[in-house]
Amino acid sequence: MSAPNKSFDPVEVTTLSPEALAGFVADALQAFAHAANLDELKEARLAHIGDRSALALANREVGALPPAAKADAGKRIGQARGQVNQALEARTAELEAARDAALLVEESVDVTTVMPATRGGRHPLTTIQEQVADVFIALGYRVAEGPEIEAEWLNFDALNIAPNHPARTMQDTFFVGNEDSGVVLRTHTSPVQIRSMLTQQPPIYVICPGRVFRTDELDATHSPVFHQVEALVIDKGITMADLKGTLDHFASSMFGEGIVTRLRPSYFPFTEPSAEVDLQCFVCRGASIDNPEAVCRTCRSEGWIEWGGCGMVNPKVLVACGIDPEEFSGFAFGMGLERTLMFRHGITDMRDMVEGDVRFTRAFGLGV
Ligand code: PHE
Repeated sequence: MSAPNKSFDPVEVTTLSPEALAGFVADALQAFAHAANLDELKEARLAHIGDRSALALANREVGALPPAAKADAGKRIGQARGQVNQALEARTAELEAARDAALLVEESVDVTTVMPATRGGRHPLTTIQEQVADVFIALGYRVAEGPEIEAEWLNFDALNIAPNHPARTMQDTFFVGNEDSGVVLRTHTSPVQIRSMLTQQPPIYVICPGRVFRTDELDATHSPVFHQVEALVIDKGITMADLKGTLDHFASSMFGEGIVTRLRPSYFPFTEPSAEVDLQCFVCRGASIDNPEAVCRTCRSEGWIEWGGCGMVNPKVLVACGIDPEEFSGFAFGMGLERTLMFRHGITDMRDMVEGDVRFTRAFGLGV
């Protein structure tokens, strides 16, 4: 047995002396107490119990001690580290609680706060639908509504659009389910007219405003979802003169006294004869035609603006709806509401009407 090796006596390894260890512990506890937040505490932890801390280095010394001294020194350092770890845990809990409490205060919402004075606006499409309804209700019409998911028969067949008509192809129509499902997203509001004729006896005077769907890409002038308003009249002795007079009244109600419409021959399967409806330019009233002095941006100096379609209800449609074409006749017309708003307000991009940006609607305020 060798004599005690003085240089390995634990008392002489100063970093392991009870005083030294007490000093390390005191330093660590003070550093933890001073850490004002979790980041600072992390730094204090690395400094005082990290790999290069005085305590870690002292711990490493234990391994080099003679077996007799190891147990004692090991116990001391174990206690010291235990104390420090406990203090760290306690301080971590305190600082986490403080952080959570601060977060709650920071993120709290005061539900009693007075609303800011700025408000959104009604969407101009809503407003224009109501204006159109007002014009026609004053003439004795009713507003009729129908579903946006519609039977193919009502959207096409009943309107004399044969199964091989181009409007039936996938290019225009959103089918609900597969192409044979018989159910589509309505491509126009005309099926509402069919529904009106199927459920009421003439005389019928209705307008059908609503959302319609076509497989178009959204760009400055197209949208897969847009709005139409259609009118339908079925009565005894209705002629094209009634149609024209009604359109002129509609035009001047919406665009200004004296603004009239013009009909250009056209084709729709559900009307015969059919026509395109042009609106007299409500800005230049035709003064810009062939007049380089008076260029008009609204009608591109054409004097007229394409507005919609119209015609006398095709007798085949009346028959499909159980109405005797010998006794009754009628007219129908339809316009796109986005288009109407675009030229009425100089809106150049369709997307502005779709995106729902409050800065756009607010520009229209409560009325249009
Ligand atoms: N339904 C037609 C369309 O969407 C518009 C229209 C309605 C044409 C009524 C004539 C009569 O294209």
